[in-house]
Amino acid sequence: MDGNGRWAKARGLPRALGHKAGVDALRATVEAARDLGLSHLTVFSFSTENWNRPQSEIDALFDLLRMFVRRDLARLHKDGVRIRIIGSREGLSEDILALVDDAVETTKGNTRLTLNIAFNYGGRGELVAAIRDIARLVEAGNLKADQIDEAMISRSLWTADSPDPDLVIRTSGELRLSNFLLWSGAYAELIFMDLWWPDFTKESLEKAIDAFRRRDRRFGGLGA
Ligand code: IPE
Ligand code: MG
Repeated sequence: MDGNGRWAKARGLPRALGHKAGVDALRATVEAARDLGLSHLTVFSFSTENWNRPQSEIDALFDLLRMFVRRDLARLHKDGVRIRIIGSREGLSEDILALVDDAVETTKGNTRLTLNIAFNYGGRGELVAAIRDIARLVEAGNLKADQIDEAMISRSLWTADSPDPDLVIRTSGELRLSNFLLWSGAYAELIFMDLWWPDFTKESLEKAIDAFRRRDRRFGGLGA
């Protein structure tokens, strides 16, 4: 979800208002994903690298997460959305952790759409955490190095509950993954859209899915 800051700047608004507009786009996108019958939606909302931003902006982003969970949880739950958080718990305040834990717990039985919120997330950090967990099993003598395979690594990731993403969309015109879903996105189709995240709509999502449908996915083979 990239481009909130530039969206605000283009309007002469403070960056925080760009992030606020970004939350509106997120709300609409979750609804659109559900209406379009998607089973999983993963949004990159705060990266481990975002700690490098000024404290005032970090505070604004955390406030928005708080507000999103507080304001939207009941409706998301009613709409059958299961909320999962992927990311590190390190550096997050107790109140944020309690709030998101409650959202995850409340919605855990929902099956219509899984919304993975990547918060305090980094793809390399995710791999480090997974490798540490696996190394601990080896250290304890419960696992042989040769038993480590791709499925085991997938199962050890924060995204273990979700299938690999088919499609990764990045807005704002930047052509980078920026540490997003490095392992699970290995075969994802990448779509880069030249619009700022607050301008992303249901039509944008439909457009991306249309483009995805026209892609020829061969997974290294020769295809059909
Ligand atoms: C995306 O918008 C939101 C987050 C990374 C939290 P940006 O804040 O990256 O907006 P730009 O890239 O400065 O326009
Ligand atoms: Mg950005």
